[in-house]
Amino acid sequence: MAKYRSIVILTGAGISAESGIPTFRGADGLWEGHRVEDVATPEAYVRDPELVHHFYNMRRAALGTVAPNPAHAALARLEQAFDGRFLIITQNVDDLHERAGSKNVLHMHGELRKAWCLGCDNRTAWLEDMTEESRCPHCSREGRLRPDIVWFGEMPYEMDRIDEALSGCDLFVSIGTSGNVYPAAGFVAMVRHMGRAHTLELNLDPSEGSRMFHETRHGPASQLVPEFVDEVLGG
Ligand code: OAD
Repeated sequence: MAKYRSIVILTGAGISAESGIPTFRGADGLWEGHRVEDVATPEAYVRDPELVHHFYNMRRAALGTVAPNPAHAALARLEQAFDGRFLIITQNVDDLHERAGSKNVLHMHGELRKAWCLGCDNRTAWLEDMTEESRCPHCSREGRLRPDIVWFGEMPYEMDRIDEALSGCDLFVSIGTSGNVYPAAGFVAMVRHMGRAHTLELNLDPSEGSRMFHETRHGPASQLVPEFVDEVLGG
């Protein structure tokens, strides 16, 4: 364990797949015939807000039917036992890391269970369905709430904090992400450029950027992540 002082973990849809949340680019990746890229954009929201709300309402409701799996639990265990710096950067908009007990989680693509008011710029916990009539609990205005999700073409959250964490880490682990969506897909190259950190991919199959990693292991996250955590904690 003394080997590492700062660990950054990047997670994607693959870590939640075994909890029952479909990935984006898998065989089950289409939603009612739509590609996610056709729904998760500001343009789609302007064109058809009802459809976009429906998409996220379904996904938000589905969170009530799923639970963290052993991969989420192992990362929470690692964070608790590790005495260096530890950050999970997740592209996932579910809350399974938090429900497993992880504390230091950065949701770079936003969160399903949050609403963002375009009227007053406040972000609020939001557990129900959202519609064009939903009222902001802060400014009371109607029709200004949208899901607090980073859509295609928008800037992911907290990039400064992410840059700082990536440049200071000595272990970077990417779990369950296909490496199709930037900037997250470029994190391994940034880390390699710094030249200090070991980089490891844990994924069901090789991602787009697999060759960039020092080490890759392929298999289900529920198996690979607990094994990896045991290794790190075992020294
Ligand atoms: P993808 O659906 O693109 O990729 C999921 C990855 O997880 C694939 O490489 C799978 O092989 C892998 N996988 C599937 N099941 C797994 C398992 N049980 N264990 C380990 N790996 C498994 O999802 P992301 O890479 O997360 O953005 O997608 C990135 C972004 O694209 C998302 O955050 C979302 C999406 O459009 C926005 O919504 C802005």
